[in-house]
Amino acid sequence: MADTAGHAHDVIEGLLDEQRVFPPSDEFRAGAIIRDDSVYREAESDFEGFWARLAEEFIDWYEQPTECLKWTAPHCTWFEDGVLNVSVNCLDRHIDAGHGERVAFHWEGEPADDTRDVTYDELLAETCRIANGLKSLGVRRGDRVGLYMGMVPELPAAMLACARIGAPHVVIFGGFSAESLADRLDSAGAKVLITQDEGWRKRLKIPLKENADAAADRVPSVERVVVLRRTGDPVPWNDDRDVWLDELAADQPDTCEPERMGAEDTLFLLHTSGTTAKPKGVQHTTGGYLLQAAVTHKWVFDIHDDTVWWCAADIGWVTGHSYIVYGPLANGTTSVLYEGDPACPDWDRHWEVIEKYRVTAYYTAPTLIRSFVKAGPEYPAKHDLSSLRLLGTVGEPINPEAWLWYWRYIGGERCPIVDTWWQTETGGILITPLPGVTELKPGSATVPFPGIQADILDEAGEPVVRGSGGFLVVKNPWPGMFRTLWQDDERYVEAYFSKYEPSIYVVGDAAKQDDDGYFWIMGRIDDVINVAGHRLSTTEIESTLVEHPAVAEAAATGAADPVRGQSIVCFVLLKSGHDQTPELAEDLRHFVADKIGKIARPAAVLFGDDLPKTRSGKIMRRLLKDIAEGHELGDTTTLRDAEVVVDLKQKADLVMGRSN
Ligand code: WT7
Repeated sequence: MADTAGHAHDVIEGLLDEQRVFPPSDEFRAGAIIRDDSVYREAESDFEGFWARLAEEFIDWYEQPTECLKWTAPHCTWFEDGVLNVSVNCLDRHIDAGHGERVAFHWEGEPADDTRDVTYDELLAETCRIANGLKSLGVRRGDRVGLYMGMVPELPAAMLACARIGAPHVVIFGGFSAESLADRLDSAGAKVLITQDEGWRKRLKIPLKENADAAADRVPSVERVVVLRRTGDPVPWNDDRDVWLDELAADQPDTCEPERMGAEDTLFLLHTSGTTAKPKGVQHTTGGYLLQAAVTHKWVFDIHDDTVWWCAADIGWVTGHSYIVYGPLANGTTSVLYEGDPACPDWDRHWEVIEKYRVTAYYTAPTLIRSFVKAGPEYPAKHDLSSLRLLGTVGEPINPEAWLWYWRYIGGERCPIVDTWWQTETGGILITPLPGVTELKPGSATVPFPGIQADILDEAGEPVVRGSGGFLVVKNPWPGMFRTLWQDDERYVEAYFSKYEPSIYVVGDAAKQDDDGYFWIMGRIDDVINVAGHRLSTTEIESTLVEHPAVAEAAATGAADPVRGQSIVCFVLLKSGHDQTPELAEDLRHFVADKIGKIARPAAVLFGDDLPKTRSGKIMRRLLKDIAEGHELGDTTTLRDAEVVVDLKQKADLVMGRSN
C-alpha cells in the first residue's frame, strides 16, 4: 500500500478522514463496566498477567491453570494445565448461583406467533438430554459432530451438548448447499450430523433434511443423522441412519456428568473461505476462546445483569458462536434469538422485536443497516426503541453515512455505536471502542482491545507512517486466537504467518491509522483495485457512492482492462423514489470522479434491485467481478437470491457492449 503515492491516492486516503467525534455521554460512562483507561495500562505493562487475571475472574475451573502463555511462534497455548467444561461455565454455574429461572433466550420464530422463552434451567436440561442422546449413538470425547440447522434454541443446546461431552462441533450455516455441507463434514470427519426437517426463511421452507441426506450419502464418516422436527412436514427417511431428536432425547436423563476438558482441547471447528476453493477449518480451543468471548462480550457491549442482548447474526458464522452462544451464556445474559429474515413480514420486524422484549443492546452488520436505510426511517419510527442503550456493528467497514443513520434513527442520538473488527480466526473482537471510554469516529473501528498489539506494516515489514495504508497485523498472541487449521498446519503457517516473522499474524486486511492512532479498515487486501498503477480500495469508492442522495448501497469491483490494468465497475442500489436512468448512471460516474479524482471514475455504473449476497449478507465480490468481466458465472449456490446475478449480468453485458 505504502508504495503507492500520488495525488489521487492521497485524496482517496483522505476521504475517510471523518471529522466528527462522539465522546461517551456522562450518563453512559457513569453506568459503564469499564469507565477509564486503566485496563489498557494494565494490559500494556503485562498482557499475559492481564489475561491471567481475567481467566480467574471470568472462568470457573476444575483445576486452576498455573501456566499462562506458551509461544513458539506461530503456535501458542494458553492456560494449558487448566481444566474446565464450557457448558458448565455457560449453564450450571449460573443455576448454582440462583439464576436458573432467568431467560437465556427469548426465542422468536419467523412465523410471528411462534415464540418461546428458554430459561437457563431449561437450556441445561435440554443440553444434557442431547448430550446423553449423542453418547447413546456412540459419540465420544474428541469425535466431531456436524450441526446443520436454523436459528432454533436446539442449536445452542446442541453446541453446548457437544461441549459437555468434549466432542468438537462443526456448525455449517443452514443456507449452505448440500455440496458445501458435504465438503465441510468430510474435511472434519464428522461422525454424527444434527439437522432439522426444514427451516423457515422468508416464509419459505428450506429443505435442510434433504440437503443433509444428499451430503451424508457422500460422506462415509457420517454414521447417523439426528433430525429436529421444526415445520412438521414429511421428509425422506432412512431407518438405518436417521433418528428424530425428540425420540432420541425423550427418555434421556436431564443431567449429564460434564467431561473435564483441558484448556487446549478443541471446542469447535468452523470453516471460512480463503483464497483457494477449499474452505479452511479454523480450530478453536476450550479455555482461551471462552475467555476471549466472555471478556469482550461483557466489556465491549457493556453487559449488566439487566441487559437484554440481541446479536442479529446467524449462529452459523463466528459472530453467532461468540456473541449469541458462548460470550452471552458465559456472562449469564438474557438474549433474543430470532429465526427469520429481517424483512419478514416487513422491514420493521427487528424494530418490533426490540420493542417487544425491551432490547437494550443490538448488534448487526453494516450491510443490513444499509438495507434499513433503503427501506426508510418510517419503519423504526413506528416502534418504541427507547429501551436501547448501545448499538454495535461487525463484518465490514461501515460508511459514515450509514453510521449516522444508525445513530440517529435507531439509537435516538443517545446510544454509543461500537464498530467491532475481528475475524473467524481471531475468535473474538480485537479492534473496538470500549463504549464508556473511547471517543467514537464514524467509520473507524477505533483502537485495539486491551492486550492486543495491532500495527500497520508496509511490504518490507516496516511500520507505515501515520495516515498511509498498509497491511494490518497483530504482533502478539491472544487467548482466543485460532490454534491452527484442521489437519492443515502448513496452510496455517503459510496463509497467516509467513509474510514477515513467524510471530506476526497477517490479517489479510488493508488499513490505516490516523493521527490519533485510530484504525480505519480499508477492506480485504484482495478487494483492492489497481487502476493504472494506483491502488484503490473498493470500500472507499463504495463509501463515496453512498454519499450521493440517490444511492442506498453500492459495490465496486475491478474488471480487467488491457490499458489500465483494471477499470472500476460499480453496482448500485437506488433509494426508493429514484429511477434507474442512464443520466443518473452518468451523474454517479462524475460524482465519484469529483469526490476522489479522475483516476477513480467508474467505467460503468450498473443498477440492480439487489446485490449478489451470501445468506449471511456478505457481497460476493468474485461474482461481481465475473459479471463485470463478462465471464460465465461461477458457483452461485451460496447466494441468498440467485436471480439477482442473472439480471445484473444481462445489464452488464448490454452496458459493456457484449452481445451474448
Ligand atoms: C473480515 C472477517 C468477525 C465476524 C464477521 C466476519 C471484515 C469484520 C469489520 C469491521 C471493517 C470488518 C474484515 C475481516 N471485518 N469486522 N468492524 N470493520 N471490516 O468474520 O467472515 O471471518 O470476516 O471481515 O475484512 O478480515 P469473517
